[in-house]
Amino acid sequence: MTTEFDIDKLIYTYFMPSDDKVSQAMVYCLGSGGKRIRPNLLLKTAANLGCVDDNICRLAVALECIHTYSLVHDDLPCMDNDDFRRGKPTCHKQFGEATAVLCGDALLNLAMEIVSGGSATDNYMKCINMLFTNSGYSGMIRGQTLDLNGSDNSDGLMEISLCKTAKMIISAIAIPAVYAGLPADEVEKYKQIGQYIGIAYQVADDLLDEKSGENSFVSVLGHDETVQLLNCLSNETLCLLDKLNVGQEHIRQLVTFNLTRKF
Ligand code: IPE
Ligand code: IPE
Ligand code: MG
Repeated sequence: MTTEFDIDKLIYTYFMPSDDKVSQAMVYCLGSGGKRIRPNLLLKTAANLGCVDDNICRLAVALECIHTYSLVHDDLPCMDNDDFRRGKPTCHKQFGEATAVLCGDALLNLAMEIVSGGSATDNYMKCINMLFTNSGYSGMIRGQTLDLNGSDNSDGLMEISLCKTAKMIISAIAIPAVYAGLPADEVEKYKQIGQYIGIAYQVADDLLDEKSGENSFVSVLGHDETVQLLNCLSNETLCLLDKLNVGQEHIRQLVTFNLTRKF
């Protein structure tokens, strides 16, 4: 049986909002509506490895805080200029642009406040390093930077997706492996799985949006070839899952979710 986690409850174990505007915006953006894929992946993978504790919970919440900040900034007029997210007005539409910038900053800062409150061990430090490296200038932010110019070919789109989407999913899947102290070759398998399923997540997102305009897998490869790519990435993920020493059934469920995504 897969352990279920109450991510909303966990967030407010580590985040004590005040009544100022930025705090309200943080609560609004962290609030329900997100699928919580990353913290659930992290916690369930850790549960299967028998290493759930306060440090792991901190890493899971911090990952969701970083994800949430990336969306707040991604929606800004100077980026994707989107008015709605999760069926609600985006942060800057609801609170104004300056507050949205500060809200994103505060969420990123909150991630560090939360992880730095944990108990230092060598493996925990390695996990914190992985979390912030994968979301930083060579990870998610690099992906967002490349996405500003887009790409008109499949290799370019793969690189963008690897950075902007898969790096955060790699954190969700590989952090528990590092924290549990698995040997380097086992950790590498978890990273590879995160990479395949993370890129697949972006491919499925493009298929779901049937994104108009240039620079999506669908517009560059066409619908049928994009479906083929998703199938291929899914099969690679399933093959790698078979090679793990510990069963990770919930990752198989995410493969199925990607293949059948409707939201
Ligand atoms: C949206 O991520 C951005 C992408 C990387 C595709 P999610 O689909 O996980 O967004 P929420 O958190 O569930 O809204
Ligand atoms: C957002 O990517 C990814 C990050 C914020 C890192 P997209 O722009 O493709 O996703 P949506 O459509 O806004 O959710
Ligand atoms: Mg966007």
